[in-house]
Amino acid sequence: MSIRDEIKTVLISEEQIRERCRELGKQVTKDYSEQNATPLVVALLRGSVPFMSELIKYIDLDIQYDFMDVTSYSGTKSTGDIRIVKDLETSGEGKDILIVEDIVDTGRTINAVVGMMKNKGANSVKVITLLDKPSRRVVDVDVDYIGFEVDDIFVVGYGLDYNQRFRALPFVGVPKEEVYR
Ligand code: IMP
Ligand code: MG
Repeated sequence: MSIRDEIKTVLISEEQIRERCRELGKQVTKDYSEQNATPLVVALLRGSVPFMSELIKYIDLDIQYDFMDVTSYSGTKSTGDIRIVKDLETSGEGKDILIVEDIVDTGRTINAVVGMMKNKGANSVKVITLLDKPSRRVVDVDVDYIGFEVDDIFVVGYGLDYNQRFRALPFVGVPKEEVYR
């Protein structure tokens, strides 16, 4: 029995994600080059790690990256309360920060993190997300780069988890109903 047997449908394949990362990386390279800027890439743990790892291969700039861990989420329901579990090691002062997220759902996490980066004195703050669920938005946030839009369904894989499971799957999919039991 493989972990893949617990997936009902593959929504976005590994190849589709790789191709999209290539396009996004090119766009990011172009946009920051035009501003004569080099981003400090800030990946939100733990979900954005696979996406960040793929994306940075296609950013042709001498970037630095760092990690931040904030929490607000357990099971499948999002709450409004966001706290820092692990802060950046790098100073954000004067940096052009590109926050990397796995999925923007209600928008609360990204909204809070963008505020935190501005408080650190960042020169600019942009957001890139693998997935966007615009139908679930509660807080208005500017997302600068989006990999794929998804409907209001719970998805796992490529960093996204259900109770810490399924993160290592190389694609984005929908779990079978029995997973929730
Ligand atoms: P937001 O603060 O509501 O935008 O929540 C964003 C966070 O919720 C993401 O970083 C994920 O950790 C989690 N999340 C939202 N939707 C899903 C999903 O469909 N699958 C897995 N995690 C999700
Ligand atoms: Mg997350």
